[in-house]
Amino acid sequence: MDKIQVKDKQFKISIHEKEILDAVQKIANRINTELSDKQPLFLGVLNGSFMFMSDLMKRINIPAEISFVKMSSYEGMSTTGKIKKLIGLNQDIKGRTIVVVEDIVDTGFTMMNMIAQLKELGAGDIKIATLVSKPEARKHEVPLDYIAFEIPNRFIVGYGLDYDGFGRNLPHIYTLCD
Ligand code: IMP
Ligand code: MG
Repeated sequence: MDKIQVKDKQFKISIHEKEILDAVQKIANRINTELSDKQPLFLGVLNGSFMFMSDLMKRINIPAEISFVKMSSYEGMSTTGKIKKLIGLNQDIKGRTIVVVEDIVDTGFTMMNMIAQLKELGAGDIKIATLVSKPEARKHEVPLDYIAFEIPNRFIVGYGLDYDGFGRNLPHIYTLCD
């Protein structure tokens, strides 16, 4: 079936699982070469990254650690306005090469906050691997090192990404119908 219903909305298939896995393999190949002697710590951002993380890590063949964090939706106030707080990190990351694994970079707000907090904790080199990037939606510039897909500014669901909590289990990526 090419069209699916998630809650009250219709979505149509836009990136097939096979195409996703090919792109994930390409990212893994690059990381295996570029970070071979870095013993990177892969930090998956929950919940959206779980499927990407799983398929990516099966293709990583260099010594590496895996952990997951969350960016709290709680929005505390700082001098610069709202922030998203990094939670769930329970290891020392001082000097470590980090690969942040994210489902999608939209405005860049989440990744901007994440990078700032990782730097504060003394992280070494920070790389970002994202399944999807929506360049047209960007409000905060963040350096993306590994991107599987660049897409137009349309709402998507599947392969970890949700619509109001649902659709994360879909193996393909679907775009909201007009
Ligand atoms: P940001 O705007 O870059 O901070 O992205 C914030 C979060 O919005 C992402 O981590 C996703 O969880 C969510 N998001 C952005 N675009 C989409 C989409 O098209 N589908 C599902 N979730 C999205
Ligand atoms: Mg997310």
